[in-house]
Amino acid sequence: MIIKHLEDLRLIILDEVDSTNTYLKNNFDSLEDGSCVAALKQTAGRGRVGRKWLTGDGNNIAFSFKASKLKEPFHGGVLLGLASLLMLREVCPEGKFFFKWPNDIYALDLTGTSALKLSGILSEAVWEKGALKGVVSGIGINVNFSEKELENAGQPAISLSIIKKSKFDVIFLVEKLAKFLKECYIKYDCNFQEVLDLWKEENRLIGQIIEAVTPTGEAHVGVFKDILPDGAMLLEETGVEFRFDCGDIKLNTKRIDFKQLEREKKL
Ligand code: BTN
Repeated sequence: MIIKHLEDLRLIILDEVDSTNTYLKNNFDSLEDGSCVAALKQTAGRGRVGRKWLTGDGNNIAFSFKASKLKEPFHGGVLLGLASLLMLREVCPEGKFFFKWPNDIYALDLTGTSALKLSGILSEAVWEKGALKGVVSGIGINVNFSEKELENAGQPAISLSIIKKSKFDVIFLVEKLAKFLKECYIKYDCNFQEVLDLWKEENRLIGQIIEAVTPTGEAHVGVFKDILPDGAMLLEETGVEFRFDCGDIKLNTKRIDFKQLEREKKL
């Protein structure tokens, strides 16, 4: 285990753990607010709705942080998403990254005509006697996975090294991410609305025609109108507005003209 104090930021880097989210939840009371944990290997990495998350062996980012000062639990994902986007853009300026509601980061593939999952976030509320104590948010970012390794990801995915055409030092990225996260958290503490507005702006699918599929297979095709203050997605389908909560809604992007989005400087 390495414990880094980057100025007053606590970052614990573990060689191996079951899940960085589980680690933080188990050690919630003893770790200070804003503490970050990363692991080179997760043996039981968890995704949303009970899915598994593959981290590989030192190849990818598995990173979680503890937040006790959030206005809403979903803001943990907002902060971690924004910090990750800043880190990704700094280390890979040629990449075209954007948020895909509710909690993913997508990247354009090498043809620029479609987008693939680069990263996912799992936020978990921590409760004590019915009261919210805080949130643990964890992000997995595919960094050095090859196309072959991504075949096991369970959904079409891309890695940073595929975009950059070279491998990355994962610890270097993790340290950068922790620093950006600290900055975002401080900014949030001063003016949370500003941070939320920034996050919403990076949700580049707002205004696009998308297909939302519910866990029961019900499909809605319509315009992604907005993200509501509680994090829900508003979709307008033939004049009727539908609200989707941050459950496991699949967002299909195949109708989106990504080249057009690039021309409009939205990517
Ligand atoms: C998803 O897209 O389903 C969310 C994936 C979240 C994975 C990260 S990796 C770090 C943290 N630890 C976990 O067990 N899960 C999250």
